[in-house]
Amino acid sequence: MSKETPTSDSIPFTTEHSIEPDLIIRLFEEELQDTLTSENLQANIQSVKGFLYNRDYLTAFDDDTKRFAYVTRWTPMRALSYSSLFGSLGPLTERLRDPEAKTKFLCIGGGAASELVGLGSVFCRLKEYTPKSESQVTIDIVDIANWENVVSKIGDYMKGHWIYDSTKLNYNFLCDDILAIQRPVPEYSTYDFITLMFTTNELFAEKRTETVKFLKNMNEKCRSGCYLLIAESAGSYSHITIGKKKFPVQFLINTILCGEPGKNNGPWEIVKSSESCWYRIDQKQIKYSMKLENMRFFYYLFKKK
Ligand SMILES: C[S@@+](CC[C@H](N)C(=O)[O-])C[C@H]1O[C@@H](n2cnc3c(N)ncnc32)[C@H](O)[C@@H]1O
Repeated sequence: MSKETPTSDSIPFTTEHSIEPDLIIRLFEEELQDTLTSENLQANIQSVKGFLYNRDYLTAFDDDTKRFAYVTRWTPMRALSYSSLFGSLGPLTERLRDPEAKTKFLCIGGGAASELVGLGSVFCRLKEYTPKSESQVTIDIVDIANWENVVSKIGDYMKGHWIYDSTKLNYNFLCDDILAIQRPVPEYSTYDFITLMFTTNELFAEKRTETVKFLKNMNEKCRSGCYLLIAESAGSYSHITIGKKKFPVQFLINTILCGEPGKNNGPWEIVKSSESCWYRIDQKQIKYSMKLENMRFFYYLFKKK
């Protein structure tokens, strides 16, 4: 696989490899209708916002009312941006275009289903060229909160509306703490592509030592050729003190995964990245019952050597 230019300042509103944004929004409008029309929705969103503001993530997502409120407000814009981001990653679109490829994804902290929609969007669009081919995807989602009902509602819609043969688009939800790595689940070696979207920061805030161990465990277990995508809000990473020195957490992640700066002596290499990538909503092209905001984030796409 050839290396790509390391930075880009923006990704397009949509790509030729993604399902159209208005169809993505239709998924949310149709599947979340009950939540979108609930008279308590705004109050529920405010309540979730309050818990998130206080970094009390566990309480923020501890029942379906809060989880569905979160999904109506924040998942659509993330799903749109991930659909564009995934559709802009050459190694991913090449793989999903291959009519023979069986691809396994692991989305850590992906319970709110943005990654599921983003990946489904790219796979289902590319699958339209060879609808009866053998290619298939399995998207495993691990999250500490129980997003089972959200994931199945959204996943079933994609199976029913976006693909000719629904058996080729599979997803599983596992409610578990990814930092409790004593168990053999998930088996990192079986995955082709792993995502950590807007989740690493939370993991570091929860348990720093365990998060370092978790990254090192992926160093050890992921197979050669596996991709790992990490994205976070641009500028959101805090600094971390090790000994007497302070480092940006981003620097720490790159050092754990890729080795000492400039030496490239770690198990992963960076194949594509952006320190500050904008995703802007084209408000003229879509209408959704709630606010859709632009996003700015940084991302790194790593490949295991
Ligand atoms: C900020 S949300 C990001 C959601 C999604 N990845 C996205 O980009 O839209 C972080 C997610 O990580 C999950 N999470 C936090 N700690 C976790 C842990 N230890 N193990 C698994 N999931 C965790 C939360 O429940 C939440 O769903």
